[in-house]
Amino acid sequence: MSAVSPELRNYWHPVAAVDELNGGPIRTTLLDEDLVVFRSGGRVHALADLCIHRGTRLSMGSLNADGCIVCPYHGWTYDTSGKCVRIPSQPADAQRIPSQAKVPAYRTAEHYSLVYVALEEPVAPVPEFPEYANDDFYTIRTGEWTWNASAARFVENAIDTSHLPIVHPGLLADPAATVIAPFDMEDTDRGFAFSARRHDVDEAMFGNADELVTQKTWVELPFSWRLLITAETLDTVVFIANQPVSLDKVRFWEFVGQKGRRAQTDEELTAFHTKVIEQDRMIVENQRPEMLPLDITAELHLKVADEPALEYRRRLAAAVGTEFA
Ligand code: FES
Ligand SMILES: [Fe+2]
Repeated sequence: MSAVSPELRNYWHPVAAVDELNGGPIRTTLLDEDLVVFRSGGRVHALADLCIHRGTRLSMGSLNADGCIVCPYHGWTYDTSGKCVRIPSQPADAQRIPSQAKVPAYRTAEHYSLVYVALEEPVAPVPEFPEYANDDFYTIRTGEWTWNASAARFVENAIDTSHLPIVHPGLLADPAATVIAPFDMEDTDRGFAFSARRHDVDEAMFGNADELVTQKTWVELPFSWRLLITAETLDTVVFIANQPVSLDKVRFWEFVGQKGRRAQTDEELTAFHTKVIEQDRMIVENQRPEMLPLDITAELHLKVADEPALEYRRRLAAAVGTEFA
């Protein structure tokens, strides 16, 4: 199995929901690297999930009164910088802690009720989701999913419009409205955006039935996606934060915010988006090769309908190389 592209380590990625940490340290995996994530001293911390003594998972351990993490095997105790500060098999007043007794610690940040981690110095900020802090929007997290698919395949599906009437007929598009008009493509300081106008369908309830709505999508490398659908009486934002667990596994959280007329309850909104996500999962988990081909001579592309996807492949290739995104 190929390894994940090392350049991906230089970006912020979500690794957990903040509320997962309430019960103590948790284990999570980012780009094939196992991490232990915990809250200590009011801040979130992430360390390699591997005790330097005998390779036990620190995520199976616990926090002591000083907010240090204690290995469950022989009790070696690590502070939030990853340095070992206590070895119980040595006398308390004669601790001889080897200087190599430490585990890697990673940068963390909290945004949108999620924990973000960058494994190396980040080359871009945490992806933008301005509606989250905007009180005009009523925003909920509809859920969390894990797919057996690459994060790049996931993003490309999210920016692919021509599948909507085929995979989500009646839900996201009229099954008869299969023709794709050229997109307005735009460079942004964080990536690119594209927009289109289309008629809403009944079940989607973004606008009124058949209303002409505008949808604008923002993409930030490597795996962030945000959509704003503007109708006469309702703006809907959808933000997806993708955790690239490994080459062929992605975990993601979806947020949906509404400004203006709200026709759906939280449960209805969640049920609608869950249905859409399940329809997409069936397709994306079965695409081959599992990794998105970043050499644009691979697969076949259409000039109009696949323009956002091509833009994404070109930019991702420029950022991480053409091999293993
Ligand atoms: S394996 Fe962690 S303390 Fe021994
Ligand atoms: Fe879809």
